[in-house]
Amino acid sequence: MSLQQKVYLITPIAQNRHFMSRIIIALLLFISSTAVAQKPSYKEQHRPQYHFSPPSKWMNDPNGMVFYKGEYHLFYQYYPDSTVWGPMHWGHAVSKDMLHWQHLPIALYPDSLGLIFSGSVVVDKNNTSGLKKGAEQPLVALYTYHDLKKEKAGKEMDFQYQGMAYSLDKGRNWTKYAGNPVIKNNGVKDFRDPKVIWHEASKHWVMVLAVADRIDFYRSENLKEWSFSSSFGKDEGSHGGVWECPDLVEMTVEGTNNKKWVLIVSIGNGGPNGGSATQYFTGDFDGRNFVNSNSKETMHWLDHGPDNYAGVTWSNTGNQKLFLGWMSNWNYAQVVPTRSWRSAMTIPRTLYLKNAAGGYRLYSKPVRNLETLRQQQHTLSVTKPTLTNGLNELILSFDLSRAAATDFGISFTNEENELLKVGFNKEQNQFYIDRSKAGDNSFSKLFTGSAVAPRLLSSNIVKLHVFIDHSSIEVFGDDGSVVLTSLFFPKQPLKSVQLFNDKEGLSLQQAVLYQLKSTW
Ligand code: FRU
Repeated sequence: MSLQQKVYLITPIAQNRHFMSRIIIALLLFISSTAVAQKPSYKEQHRPQYHFSPPSKWMNDPNGMVFYKGEYHLFYQYYPDSTVWGPMHWGHAVSKDMLHWQHLPIALYPDSLGLIFSGSVVVDKNNTSGLKKGAEQPLVALYTYHDLKKEKAGKEMDFQYQGMAYSLDKGRNWTKYAGNPVIKNNGVKDFRDPKVIWHEASKHWVMVLAVADRIDFYRSENLKEWSFSSSFGKDEGSHGGVWECPDLVEMTVEGTNNKKWVLIVSIGNGGPNGGSATQYFTGDFDGRNFVNSNSKETMHWLDHGPDNYAGVTWSNTGNQKLFLGWMSNWNYAQVVPTRSWRSAMTIPRTLYLKNAAGGYRLYSKPVRNLETLRQQQHTLSVTKPTLTNGLNELILSFDLSRAAATDFGISFTNEENELLKVGFNKEQNQFYIDRSKAGDNSFSKLFTGSAVAPRLLSSNIVKLHVFIDHSSIEVFGDDGSVVLTSLFFPKQPLKSVQLFNDKEGLSLQQAVLYQLKSTW
């Protein structure tokens, strides 16, 4: 209804003052309710306070992550009409520090070619696409179109193909490329999630595409025309589910000048603690072929917890490799007990490649910017709980050689006696998160109680770096060599924090807790 129409409707009743005041109240209520709809409070139960979550409704994978002119762009799989998955759009937000986000209008809407599934964005610095018009370098998005009608018709399997869109104004407005699709499908049901990188050695764009149970590599000179190079992975790594959302990252092995390529691949099912998870391969890449440095059977997990999926790295960040994942699991993502919105992203993490425990391993560390959220500092104890605001960073280290305790860690509780535990078990040599008593878990049988991750290193000092928000915990064990990310849904935030041990004699080296501030 236009403003003119609204004014016209009110005028005839204006003689009746009683009616008039009711209408004014109704109007005020209407205006305030639309204001609320536009600007979410971020105070809802379970709403993360320093993680990215959409203003409202459904979100899954991070997409198109690119850094350009001081802004980190985050696009994401978004269904603006419901809190469950539906016709996909690309939602959009920008941030200067990956922590404080400004929501921007939806960047890509479904069109006659289909829904807009996951993909990536690159900065076309050399204008290889020829799309540049003004001062800004083109930002070019490559994404998957999913033709829902064709899928429903069930006759042909070629309903996913790759499309392109571009922005000439720092990501504010997007134009779909007239020549779409840029890559057609020859009949493979799962054919999606293009991640594009610039391969400096061969001076080509390379696209990494998830194709059912493998990764296909394509190359291009101009981002518009693509030719197939090779396939990888049909009989390598984990195949508990469909392969999705790949990434290919060239990394320097810490402490050396050696470079290696890391191929990140999410799998829809069969993760180490159930459901969807993200594995990685380390090897060499010559611009066309990826060769795995490990045996075909080797499986490495970027995160062992149940709730880190479809994560990729930001484009255009130089040697820094910055990663963000969708903090949920397809096993239960659509039924978790949040109301106005569903899902959040992990905290941003820096990836490192190290030669450790007999092979190349991907380490994850929380980005340094998170330190700017620190407020009061406390020292944790075994005897007395520390009361906090429920938004915490914890840094702990224990000396195994001098400790009698074999099972120890941190417990988080509230007045409802809900309990979340994060710990290390010496006999089993593993880190764990136990969320079995941490709140509502009635919504899905697949929302399992505990998640474990084998320790990688063998030093006497066990380290834990932990981030807890209202409904999530992220554990970086031993400097990020082992990671666990997990959701939980307590009635109230878990504000009481205490150390625990099974036997007296916990040889603590450090036990610091910081209260963090909200970024919303
Ligand atoms: C991964 C995924 C992608 C796909 C998108 C659809 O979570 O299944 O493979 O592009 O979600 O929303």
